[in-house]
Amino acid sequence: MNESSSIQEDSVSQPLPQIREPLQFPAGFFWGVSTAAHQVEGCNDNQWTDWEAAGRIRSRDSCGDACDWWKNAERDFDLAADMGLNALRLSVEWSRIEPQEGQWHRESLLRYREMLKALLERGIEPMVCLHHFTNPRWFEQKGAFLNSDAGKLLERFTRRVVEELGDLCRHWVTFNEPNVYASMGYVLGEFPPGRLGDVIGAFRVINSMSRIHVRAYHVIHELQPNAQVGWAHNYIYFVPANPLSPFDRWSTSVVNALFNESFLGGMERGYHKFPFNLADRGAPEAKDACDFVGLNVYSRLHVRFDLREKSQLFSHVYVPSHVPQGDSGIDRPYGEAYPEVVRIAVERAARLGKPIYILENGVPDAEDRIRPWLLLNTLKELHGLIENGYDIRGYFHWTLADNFEWTEGWNLRFGLIAMDPATQVRTMRPSGSLYRGIALENGFSPQMVEEHFPGRETSVLPSRER
Ligand code: BGC
Repeated sequence: MNESSSIQEDSVSQPLPQIREPLQFPAGFFWGVSTAAHQVEGCNDNQWTDWEAAGRIRSRDSCGDACDWWKNAERDFDLAADMGLNALRLSVEWSRIEPQEGQWHRESLLRYREMLKALLERGIEPMVCLHHFTNPRWFEQKGAFLNSDAGKLLERFTRRVVEELGDLCRHWVTFNEPNVYASMGYVLGEFPPGRLGDVIGAFRVINSMSRIHVRAYHVIHELQPNAQVGWAHNYIYFVPANPLSPFDRWSTSVVNALFNESFLGGMERGYHKFPFNLADRGAPEAKDACDFVGLNVYSRLHVRFDLREKSQLFSHVYVPSHVPQGDSGIDRPYGEAYPEVVRIAVERAARLGKPIYILENGVPDAEDRIRPWLLLNTLKELHGLIENGYDIRGYFHWTLADNFEWTEGWNLRFGLIAMDPATQVRTMRPSGSLYRGIALENGFSPQMVEEHFPGRETSVLPSRER
């Protein structure tokens, strides 16, 4: 693998964190990366394959071989091991394992066994996610999570996977981001099935997924009593465009309730609050049905009340141009890079009283302009939270090597390692070697920051609120 010479000229315009002494993380802390089957394996055949064929990838890219993991995930596992990582989150692709309803593909399960063994041999603890946005065609055609059989089908799939892989994996993530899956697919129309403005549909999907999560939680524990089971929750920090405007504040609270609270609140209490309880009372059995909460934290977004945004309940969600941010999507910004979001998300999730893993955090940044800044500041926030008694067990960066970013295709690059999909050549970004140092040291020191960024100013980003 190549190593990119040094940090780019124009990189990291934001100052790095000021630390006077080394920040050490607890022994056994997981330093990992997260990935997802469709984004890395290559040549999958699921509802996203159809979405791509229908021309719905904005960049017009093709997922193709992705990072070629189906044939050679081990190449990246070697890199992860060399980076000192002790954990890696990956997902299993349901359409490979059960390509037709009720028909199991043994070779696929064997390949996953091989992959998990390869991780363990390298001293890397696997964390397996059962569902990361993709569905087999036959399930999608039945209406996916809106089909009344969805629970039975997912329970059967979970049982099969855990029976086959359970001896190699103890940490399970049932669903990746039910709130993203539902809002992108049913309100914003950006993920299959591409519905626009169907808020009720999105809410039904969320409720279906939370009931299925509970079933999967119990199946996994039945087969593997010492398993650790959670789900990955995407938490966005929404703020009113004008904090003095009651309209903007109202819009912000609606978006926050729908996006951040619908699944999380249901899991915390086992019931929904007004007005959501008019559509679904929630699932009392959801309360306590997780061993940890996984948090995927990326951005802060701004919300303005806007009568034109009927399909989004009159909320215009946007990123002001002056805020720190990574690379832009094809026709919109990705989000404000905001390290403090990790604190806000952890404080909220801690109300469930369970251990927390940061299961995704990162930024699209091909030139590594702000990734090192974001990484160090986020980890500084995380360290502060741990010092204050929050039970945080690990940090998984999104992601190891550039992978296929859903509707953005290859346009957005989240990797600690740059990956050229045409040649499969990998090149370590400066943030990759920085993360390597952090994982190997189980923390970071002022000397390390200085070594990686000689002569760079090292004070905390002057936040606009401070
Ligand atoms: C998803 C990933 C995605 C990442 C970056 C997360 O919400 O789980 O699949 O690649 O965000 O956009």
